Amino acid sequence: MTEVSSQLSPGAAKLPRHLAVIMDGNGRWAQARGQMRIKGHQAGANAVRTIIKAARTRGIPILTLYAFSSENWKRPATEVSALMQLLGMALAEHVDELHSYDIKIRIVGDVSALSPTLQRTIAQVEAKTCHNRSMTLNIAINYGARLELTQALKQVAAQVVAGRLKLEDLDATTISQALYVPQDVDLLIRTGGEFRLSNFLLWQCAYAEIYVSEVLWPDFDEAELTRALEFYAGRERRFGMTSAQLAK
Ligand code: FPP
Repeated sequence: MTEVSSQLSPGAAKLPRHLAVIMDGNGRWAQARGQMRIKGHQAGANAVRTIIKAARTRGIPILTLYAFSSENWKRPATEVSALMQLLGMALAEHVDELHSYDIKIRIVGDVSALSPTLQRTIAQVEAKTCHNRSMTLNIAINYGARLELTQALKQVAAQVVAGRLKLEDLDATTISQALYVPQDVDLLIRTGGEFRLSNFLLWQCAYAEIYVSEVLWPDFDEAELTRALEFYAGRERRFGMTSAQLAK
């Protein structure tokens, strides 16, 4: 069994091994206060810090946050550039603190389309924290699940063409391992009340428990995280089996 498939352990779910979050509602939060949308993203960055610390304290091994999708480029140019600036600043500002908590930071997505300055910051942050072991923090920037799957399939196809992989050996684990995020998601939280996956971790969420919170992301605090984790702890994860089979 590989690390990827061994995560699918049926039965009562306790603490998620991999928590993923679609941080939605920054714009509405700002608009409700008569402020510019970027103020909502700034407030969202504070919530990010709170949730990272809380997840680390609770012992969640992997946290993946959706910060900027491959479709978010379609937003007004001023919002895109303000968001990019905010992401770069937040990374540079918090890297030492996150490093002190032994957190490994990975940026997942197509970083080649980001500005050279942001790419440099990303490289520095990843290099500084790459040996940390307490928690992996994946920050999805210019991420789209279809893009991720397309590049993974190209990578796998190239291995087959080069004769390094036999077609009959190609299985779900081969594909998982070629993704930016190889681990299955246990719990997916979406804030802001929408019931949508928005092209986020489509392969990895195959068996994820999904928790939608009405709370807008800047207001999502530790108490809200506790609620989501309690929901998860109450779920029975069957992975296609019956309850009776699990009881055996
Ligand atoms: C969605 O809300 C949120 C985003 C597209 C950006 C998320 C970014 C942050 C929380 C900023 C900082 C992140 C890190 C990792 C430091 P929306 O703008 O779509 O909200 P709306 O649905 O109310 O319009």
